[in-house]
Amino acid sequence: MDVEKLVQRKDDPNVHSPDSPPTVSGNHWKNRRLFAARVCVVFIAVMYFTWIAARHGLVNIKKITAPVTSNLRPLPLVPFAESDSSIWSCRPHSAIDGASGSVSTQLFQLPTDSNGLFLTSEGASVNGNIKVEVADEPACRGSGNMLFVNVSTYHNSGAPLNSEFAPRICGMNSPVDGFYGVGVFDAVSPYDAEHKVSETQTNITITLPRTVNGDPLVISNFIVSMGAFSQQIGNLSSVHFESIYLSSKTVQVEALSADHAVIRTNESPIEGEFEVTDTLELDTANAPIRVGVKMVNDRGIFTRLKMTTSNSPITADLELTGFKDYNEFASGRFSIEARSTNAQVVIRHLSASVGSTVMLKAETTNAPMDVQMHPTYEGSFALKTTNAKHNVDCLSCKDTNDPEGHGRSRKITLKQIQGGQLASGYVYWGEGYDGRHRGEIRMETTNKDMSLTV
Ligand SMILES: *[C@@H]1O[C@H](CO)[C@@H](O)[C@H](O)[C@H]1NC(C)=O
Ligand SMILES: *[C@@H]1O[C@H](CO)[C@@H](O)[C@H](O)[C@H]1NC(C)=O
Ligand SMILES: *[C@@H]1O[C@H](CO)[C@@H](O)[C@H](O)[C@H]1NC(C)=O
Repeated sequence: MDVEKLVQRKDDPNVHSPDSPPTVSGNHWKNRRLFAARVCVVFIAVMYFTWIAARHGLVNIKKITAPVTSNLRPLPLVPFAESDSSIWSCRPHSAIDGASGSVSTQLFQLPTDSNGLFLTSEGASVNGNIKVEVADEPACRGSGNMLFVNVSTYHNSGAPLNSEFAPRICGMNSPVDGFYGVGVFDAVSPYDAEHKVSETQTNITITLPRTVNGDPLVISNFIVSMGAFSQQIGNLSSVHFESIYLSSKTVQVEALSADHAVIRTNESPIEGEFEVTDTLELDTANAPIRVGVKMVNDRGIFTRLKMTTSNSPITADLELTGFKDYNEFASGRFSIEARSTNAQVVIRHLSASVGSTVMLKAETTNAPMDVQMHPTYEGSFALKTTNAKHNVDCLSCKDTNDPEGHGRSRKITLKQIQGGQLASGYVYWGEGYDGRHRGEIRMETTNKDMSLTV
């Protein structure tokens, strides 16, 4: 799922497919003249359209692509038309409301029931902050299914915004996919007199509506892909995203609920409370991950959590809730992966449904690791480290009651191999006919101790 090129400029008017070359025949010279004439016409046409586009601030942004979270295929986008006639529509920011002074604001309304909603940006000079929040009060009649995107641009020095140097803010949509969004692009002239990128900042607030009856607001696809921006996601526990993709310089989350969520930052921490039914992917580097995740499994297929960073710790507190399906022994399937280097990994299971299947894989290097399972865990485990100790502790073997209420006792088998570098075994209730092979824990580090509590 490589989405490095989230936003690409397409349809560069300077690029056109060459005419077919003349054939060598009796009409050789005639063909050559015809070819030269065609090239000339194409050249003039391209220059004309480039000039028109430049006049309207449109050059290079007529079509961009942004990702779709569900399958991450590129999405063709066009600015939405202000009126039928014109080729509107990305203008320098301050030209919109004729603002004078150093601040200019633009407001967009987007339908929450569209197939997808997005914010996207491109350009070396655009940067700023994004806040996503839920309205305090339910909206009045008529605007209950609209979300608001409030975009404000400032000059960092407090100087008046010169429209030429202000980022262009575009309302956009993808007619094919039914996506709506807002794009922030480089100014017409992103360079000031000293040839530096102009010093503007764009702050964006997205306000999601609160439903009248208190039911969660359901949003199909929500994409914020804003390279140089910082994102603050508020407490969105009253919203359910079927699919959400957040990618920025930084992303801070208070609370988020989704079927499928991907959070990607550029070397900055990922923190927050998440509730997820399908997949949660947290991806950064050189920065910590500190999260609380409620994984809810009700579909028979695994609910997955994947956390990736480097040179920084991962701390995750997990609650695993499964619902019994047709097989009354299966009560939720969960897959958890954590990967870092040179820093500690700590994973605690605060709760897990009886009979749930947990597959856990945790890896780091040169740092300790600590995994605490819930007494409902049954299955195998394998711990591997070098030049250090493992500690496998069955706290729940002592005085914990059988979570299924059958009066069974908890048992553990443990063997050390490879001179103590590898410890493996099984933990289960009763005789372990079902339990022994239910779940699987794999932990790996180097040069430091590791500890597993089951
Ligand atoms: C948009 O944001 C600006 C700056 O924060 C604020 O002054 C303005 O009231 C906001 N507009 C709306 C409609 O929320
Ligand atoms: C833009 O947002 C950031 C973060 O919320 C805030 O610190 C900053 O003051 C805002 N800029 C302006 C000019 O309001
Ligand atoms: C978010 O809001 C809900 C409902 O208001 C509350 O129960 C929950 O504790 C909040 N979560 C966080 C992380 O603040």
